[in-house]
Amino acid sequence: MSVPVYTVSAQPHRDADTVVVLGLTTQGKELALRAPSEYASLRELADSVDASAAAESLTRLPNPDSTRAAVALIGLGTASVTLNALRDAAGSAVRKLAGKPVVEFAFDFASDAEVLATLEGALLGAYSFTRYKGASLDSLKQPAATIHIRTDRQIAASDLARVHEKARAMALVKDLVNTPANDLYPESFATIAEELCASDDSLHITVWDEQKLAKDGFGGILGVGKGSERPPRLVRISYAPQAGSAHIALVGKGITFDTGGLSLKSGPGMMGMKYDMTGAATALGVIRAASALALPITVTAWLCLAENMPSGRATRPNDILTIRGGKTVEVLNTDAEGRLVLADGLMAASEEQPDLIIDIATLTGAATTALGTRTVGVMGNTDEISHLVEVAGTSGENFWHMPLPAELRPLLNSDVADIANVKPGNTAGGMLIAACFLRDFVGNRSAHSDEATEQLPWIHLDIAGTANNGSGPYGFTAGGPTGVSVRALIDYIAGRAGLPSPYASAK
Ligand code: BES
Ligand code: ZN
Ligand code: ZN
Repeated sequence: MSVPVYTVSAQPHRDADTVVVLGLTTQGKELALRAPSEYASLRELADSVDASAAAESLTRLPNPDSTRAAVALIGLGTASVTLNALRDAAGSAVRKLAGKPVVEFAFDFASDAEVLATLEGALLGAYSFTRYKGASLDSLKQPAATIHIRTDRQIAASDLARVHEKARAMALVKDLVNTPANDLYPESFATIAEELCASDDSLHITVWDEQKLAKDGFGGILGVGKGSERPPRLVRISYAPQAGSAHIALVGKGITFDTGGLSLKSGPGMMGMKYDMTGAATALGVIRAASALALPITVTAWLCLAENMPSGRATRPNDILTIRGGKTVEVLNTDAEGRLVLADGLMAASEEQPDLIIDIATLTGAATTALGTRTVGVMGNTDEISHLVEVAGTSGENFWHMPLPAELRPLLNSDVADIANVKPGNTAGGMLIAACFLRDFVGNRSAHSDEATEQLPWIHLDIAGTANNGSGPYGFTAGGPTGVSVRALIDYIAGRAGLPSPYASAK
């Protein structure tokens, strides 16, 4: 639930509590150690215990002296080790060594980026969520509370801080997502955001309750939230440092639980729908990191919070909602609710004329059909998409640029309103159609008389496939929430502030 303490120094952290993790690679048919020279003699031992250099394979070596640190070997694959291999190796080692309070990594690092990637993977792999463990807590092995990286490299404090804030932001997202919907609902989510902003002088928060939402015309958020006993909220958080030149708005889908509403999901289809607020949690984690890192750029986060429930007061199919700014939407399927709350959020964000709007949403099951569970779908109306996709790659994330085909928009024509929220019966291109819907709610750049009307630059991230790891753990990722897109967004925003990723120049 919190990020481990970490140290980086040339000194080994040797006491009986520590496990020292060394790297193991293959060179041809031979095993090779990726470790300081004092450990060279362990190579033969590694052979004799049949240690494997396969990625993420952990071998604990017999410890001849109980007063000294134990040693374990982690497989790094072939000798040309990538930064992602280091992140995953470190993360899986920390996961597999749960119960050991201190884990030291001594990989004989070849670059500063290797040190940072190893630290990053270790901090991420140490995440666990035990808030709801009662009687079984005592028997749980906790991941390391201290990570030590042994290197004589001098790593820039700002690079270490970047890695640490990414890990903190991802832990915050995972904590919020893991919290069940009986405890995390729009009002309690907004309170958490208020508390977080109260402890950071650089973050300023405004919360719309249901009365204020009605007064200000947020018909999408109100329409989705209507069926629930727990009223919706819109949260705006501003980070506006004096040095901030560019302005980036983050708009997060925050459905604290998605039953589908009256277009009710099936029992199995509803499983995991507490995850449907991941976009809002991501916006919150990222803006907190921007502030903690004092990035010289203005960021505004919009959290669109509602619980999508069926009831006698719920929005019905064929109801028409009026979104902020006056456009009307015929709701043909109440389960396509994310786009309704985001429509309000995008309109509100647009009014401030930011330089770029990025929305983050667990928007469509179709995202999984198209791209699987480890690749984020990226859509939008700006060339900046290719820049964001590239930055994500250097951050260690998989983003993929998907099209917004113009012929899809007419599928959403409504007989009675400006647009419908779905094309009933349509199953093709669901992720793209959702994005086409959102595009209608991206505002224009305030018209200058001599310029043609132009939409504000906007990027949409569909993280429905990637927000939750429903399979076994791998690398630094445990089962459950993944924190996807947090690292990419922090590096992208920092880059726009003139502070490129420390990984950008590395191999
Ligand atoms: N929250 C879901 C999308 C989702 C599905 C996220 C699976 C994570 C895993 C979203 O609100 C939804 O229900 N979308 C519908 C849209 C459809 C009605 C056009 C979907 O994808 O089925
Ligand atoms: Zn839904
Ligand atoms: Zn949803």
